[in-house]
Amino acid sequence: MGKALIIGAGGVASVVVHKCCQNPDVFGEILLASRTVSKCDALKEKLQGGKVKISTAQLDADNSSEIIALINRFKPDIVINVALPYQDLTIMDACLATKVDYLDTANYEPPDIAKFEYKWQWAYREKFKEAGITAILGCGFDPGVTGVFSAYAMKHYFDEIYQIDILDANAGDHGYPFATNFNPEINIREVTARGSYFENGKFIETEPMSIKKVYNFPEIGHKDMYLLHHEEMESLALNIRGIKKIRFWMTFSKSYLTHLKVLENVGMTSIEPIEFEDRKIVPLQFLKALLPDPASLGPRTKGKTNIGCIYQGIKDGQPKNYYVYNVCDHEECFKEVGSQAISYTTGVPAMTGAMMVLTGKWKKPGVFNVEELDPDPFMEQLNKQGLPWKEDFSPSLVD
Ligand SMILES: NC(=O)c1ccc[n+]([C@@H]2O[C@H](COP(=O)([O-])OP(=O)(O)OC[C@H]3O[C@@H](n4cnc5c(N)ncnc54)[C@H](OP(=O)(O)O)[C@@H]3O)[C@@H](O)[C@H]2O)c1
Repeated sequence: MGKALIIGAGGVASVVVHKCCQNPDVFGEILLASRTVSKCDALKEKLQGGKVKISTAQLDADNSSEIIALINRFKPDIVINVALPYQDLTIMDACLATKVDYLDTANYEPPDIAKFEYKWQWAYREKFKEAGITAILGCGFDPGVTGVFSAYAMKHYFDEIYQIDILDANAGDHGYPFATNFNPEINIREVTARGSYFENGKFIETEPMSIKKVYNFPEIGHKDMYLLHHEEMESLALNIRGIKKIRFWMTFSKSYLTHLKVLENVGMTSIEPIEFEDRKIVPLQFLKALLPDPASLGPRTKGKTNIGCIYQGIKDGQPKNYYVYNVCDHEECFKEVGSQAISYTTGVPAMTGAMMVLTGKWKKPGVFNVEELDPDPFMEQLNKQGLPWKEDFSPSLVD
């Protein structure tokens, strides 16, 4: 049985903690550590008394030496980073210093530039290899399961994959005119950034939200979806045999887009600090303070998500198409763990990735994106842990 240090106590962390407690044969003991310790204590209060021993701690994860001290005290086998992308490097540094395995769900972003790419974390490859420890990057749903789906498609169905379309649909309704389903600051930085897609060896940039298609999603129906830049395209472009084109699509409601446009137009989504009543504030951080906490959306959200990947490629000289996806119901997630489906679809894979490392299936020295690892045991666990997947061998393609 393993010991996990879970950093962060937001929407995703709450699901990770619930799912670790459902798997006591793997997670014997967990320590929840975050900036606001009362959130860790509330989770402990709700879940203690089962087979998994739970403790809590206050932690500033921007400070590596604080993390090192906590790791030395608790002696975890793995650190699950479900704080914010800004903390990825300080936590990786602490894991290196203490020789403990690491896993996260989002790649590093410097707080002052809205630019997410893997170069900062890939720079740790040799150091993790030499230290004999494992780092798993981007193990949520997208990135995360989308990479596992890609490795599975490559292993079982294709000799070469030449195109991937990643489709992320949320048909959930929380009843608010505007709210984000995960951390508002990170979410708005992602969707207001320039779009991009990968084609013939390079990334082509597009104006934000300038490419729209309609897709008829299984179990959800027709939805408007928009081309976005998304971090897994960067690693899939390197790791998938034969790949020529990758696009990422996400659905947004008209109300979300109208509110976002107005907020952008008045400067509320900017990350440039401004002077306000003799102090500096970042407009986007102020906006985050006004918006509903994503963790509070659980009891209000109805409807389903559908996230999956459509592959086009070649098997035994013949063209082949393959669509693999998961449908998740917001209300079912709330019934099970008290969270909406966006936190659920991120937290279940994060727990599952940690399970893969703790049980030795993904334990090897170095820094890895999930598609570089064996997809089979992970795919098997998805079916058992609440994210069953479905396959379609003649899907409608995104034109
Ligand atoms: N791959 C995917 O599919 C996917 C999907 C959704 C989200 N994500 C990622 O999942 C992560 C968590 O998202 P979320 O929605 O759970 O966010 P959230 O609700 O805002 O939770 C973030 C947590 O991190 C804590 N935190 C922030 N800075 C910290 C610091 N310096 N030291 C210690 N703790 C700190 C926060 O503490 P406070 O409580 O004090 O604010 C909060 O508890 C994010 O990185 C997000 O990008 C990935």
